[in-house]
Amino acid sequence: MGINCALDGPSGAGKSTVAKAVAKELGFVYVDTGALYRAIGLYAARQGACTTSAQEVVPLLSDINVELKYNEGTQIVLLNGEDVSKAIRVNEISMAASNVSAIPEVRSFLLDLQRDIAAKNDIIMDGRDIGTVILPNADVKVFMTASAEERADRRYKELIEKGQDVTYDEILNDINQRDYNDSHRATAPLKKADDAIELDTSNMSIDEVVEAISNIIKEKTVKPVAPVEMKKVKWTLGLVLYAIVRFIVAIPVYICFNIKIEGKENIPHAGGMVVASNHRTWFDPIMIGMCIIKPGAYMAKEELFKNKLLGVLLKILQAFPVSRGSADRAPLDKAVDYVDRGFNLVLFPEGTRSKDGSLGKPKSGVAYVASISGAPVCPVGILFEGKLRFRSKITIRFGAPISPDEIKIEKMSAREMHKVRDRIYGAIGDLLK
Ligand code: DC
Repeated sequence: MGINCALDGPSGAGKSTVAKAVAKELGFVYVDTGALYRAIGLYAARQGACTTSAQEVVPLLSDINVELKYNEGTQIVLLNGEDVSKAIRVNEISMAASNVSAIPEVRSFLLDLQRDIAAKNDIIMDGRDIGTVILPNADVKVFMTASAEERADRRYKELIEKGQDVTYDEILNDINQRDYNDSHRATAPLKKADDAIELDTSNMSIDEVVEAISNIIKEKTVKPVAPVEMKKVKWTLGLVLYAIVRFIVAIPVYICFNIKIEGKENIPHAGGMVVASNHRTWFDPIMIGMCIIKPGAYMAKEELFKNKLLGVLLKILQAFPVSRGSADRAPLDKAVDYVDRGFNLVLFPEGTRSKDGSLGKPKSGVAYVASISGAPVCPVGILFEGKLRFRSKITIRFGAPISPDEIKIEKMSAREMHKVRDRIYGAIGDLLK
């Protein structure tokens, strides 16, 4: 079961804009349930049915299949296989949606679909009855309001920008009418759940609302992590050279790609941490190294050290050789030594790059280093779509640290190692969703 956040409120309060941004920030799926009622309103209108008449609308339900799909985080609404994401956004369909949403059979028709999505994902779901009916046990409930005039003004500007021919008064009338319909219908009327937090956004900017809601969600859902003890590394002349070389090496990477960093609050602020990431490109260590600022150390395959010049460069960059596929523990002990000395050890536990972004076969080296050194682990996810091209977007997502207490082992055994390994891989996997 994922984390469920219910965001309810009247039409035009800006729920969808805010929910989309919050979902993006927290890596949640955004579910716009209004789109489901709109799809049914659209179907009924296309069939020439009177959308306020249950007698005309209910028989149509057996011909309707509504599905939600996601493409790079954007919700796509399929009505009997047809992508109607745009068609449902016109003004007439808003009223048709409000009308059909008052019909109890329509509401029960859409109930399971909404609950199914919520059961399988971390979601922020916006609607009217999410906190009261659809997800009464949601982890977080927010009821977002704004005055009718403020909402009409926002909606008017949005529609004019889209080139639709509307007047402010029409929109205000519509909003008042929909408010009345939505809060006076007999089934699942729009109302604040008793345990919802009410947020009046009339005088708030979108960014302020996004921040407020993200903070509410974080406060309610993030499990407190035991404070992690980190070490300080002593800056020597060699390390200053390291910092300069790291910066120079990173310049072309940061020019060639559009690198976006998420979860900045989780970036190790001191040393002595194991940073475990999935592996996509040869320059992953460079990207991560630049985010961390504090000195990092890296494992690199031993073949790379055969080239003299590259070997020197790698040594300056605090990389040390490891032979792949060997059972030799020496490089792992060297890794533990680096962590003990206060370096942030950057590891790619899969050992090899993944072409499609999925996590490779789990290996236990990372578990060995983390449990022997007793260091906290910072999971990292590196994500991009398709093939890398000039200025492709690459996201580096830092996850909440795993405290040493969580991955402490009682005795050195394969079973204990696998538990630690799976915890770390699980945390990286979560960042790739
Ligand atoms: O959020 P929206 O404007 O896209 O929603 C369209 C209509 O659907 C709205 O007038 C009320 C209805 N609706 C509902 O009754 N319950 C929901 N969970 C979502 C929307």
